[in-house]
Amino acid sequence: MLRTVHDGPQVVVCSTCRHSAEAREDAAGGRGGAVLADALRRVRDADPALAGIAIEDMPCLFACTRYCAVHIRAPGKIGYVLGGFAPDTAAAVAILAYAAAHGESADGVVPYSQWPAGVKGHFIVRVPPEGYVAT
Ligand code: FES
Repeated sequence: MLRTVHDGPQVVVCSTCRHSAEAREDAAGGRGGAVLADALRRVRDADPALAGIAIEDMPCLFACTRYCAVHIRAPGKIGYVLGGFAPDTAAAVAILAYAAAHGESADGVVPYSQWPAGVKGHFIVRVPPEGYVAT
């Protein structure tokens, strides 16, 4: 049920999120989440500044009505589940820009002034790291 992954800054992307309200898959048969995962890897691989952010996919983050959904996390930091993304490059750029700022933050709190416009309105929950709660 669990698979070991890199223990550093990462974006866990739901690989099974819908493509759209009308269709689970795009014309090529790709789920929205899988297409977003591909976009995240493509954007990450094109920018050396993002090389330290792992992209991990897993089926269903239980945020299905807010497709496409991702979980941004890093050890010892507050993590976030975000959703409502289109499976495209613009979303991948915004998610990774936020993940980079999150990874550089002390405790996972990124000042609102540093949020990329593309993540605003997409936050669903924040999750405290194991052993901590937020103050
Ligand atoms: S299918 Fe993506 S969160 Fe459930």
